[in-house]
Amino acid sequence: MAVDNDGIAVVTLQRPPVNSLNLDLLQAMNNTFDDVAKNKSKGMILTSASPTVFSAGLDIMEMYKPDPKRVETFWVTLQDMWLKLFGASFPTAAAINGHAPAGGCLIATSCEYRVMLSGKFTIGLNETALGIVAPTWFQDSLRHTIPTRQAEIALTTGKMFTVDEALKVGLIDETAADKAEAIEKCKKFIKRFDKIPSLARGMTKQIFRQEVLKKLLTNRQADTKQFLDLVNQPKVQQSLELYLAMLKQKSQK
Ligand SMILES: CC(C)(COP(=O)(O)OP(=O)(O)OC[C@H]1O[C@@H](n2cnc3c(N)ncnc32)[C@H](O)[C@@H]1OP(=O)(O)O)[C@@H](O)C(=O)NCCC(=O)NCCS
Repeated sequence: MAVDNDGIAVVTLQRPPVNSLNLDLLQAMNNTFDDVAKNKSKGMILTSASPTVFSAGLDIMEMYKPDPKRVETFWVTLQDMWLKLFGASFPTAAAINGHAPAGGCLIATSCEYRVMLSGKFTIGLNETALGIVAPTWFQDSLRHTIPTRQAEIALTTGKMFTVDEALKVGLIDETAADKAEAIEKCKKFIKRFDKIPSLARGMTKQIFRQEVLKKLLTNRQADTKQFLDLVNQPKVQQSLELYLAMLKQKSQK
């Protein structure tokens, strides 16, 4: 995390090669989000150290032939990450400097503003394509960002949006030519709040988001059980195995 002269924290995801969200990265994100809140930063911008990938989403290795205890901790830590990010009272923005499938899209849509680099990148919740189901809060984050009808079709088809498509539907707010410009545009968004009292801003955001947050907060155990039941199904394990093999084959080409 680097805090600039304006008091805006830039948090860079750095887990090569593709910033896939494993337990360790999620724990580090949670600690960083707590620090940003404690430091009373003016706002936070999330970006990636990779030149082509914002985040490849959940680390499939955490779900493939999982250790029962670890996979449960993994899910609970992911829930925590979302509750902290989606529910943050400080302003949040994502400088999406590469692909943002699945959990990458979840992180981006949990922020208040999104700037994505122009190029051959894609963003979306593609879970159904892998044979897994995006939980309520993933779906809610998308529905919070784009119109309900487009969100339903995107979720059921596992759609990955091109940058142009994402801009058109409102999944991203702006495009940028490079990472520096993306961060600058995110800072400009956060500076919009310079003259707005932060207590009123933070409370308004929390009221606006509380229904969605409450759904997970009051339902965490059932949500965890649903995930564990799903991930332990032989059919799902088979889908994950095939998907991993496809990724490996692609990367060896
Ligand atoms: C993000 C992405 C577009 C980047 O493409 P890329 O830059 O060409 O990178 P690669 O696909 O070659 O991936 C690099 C390595 O990361 C691995 N990887 C990619 N995404 C991963 C994930 N979500 N979990 C675990 N490993 C992953 C690949 O298997 C590959 O491993 P290898 O080097 O041992 O063969 C692509 O990796 C991708 O689509 N990943 C899957 C995203 C996804 O569907 N996530 C849903 C998770 S629920």
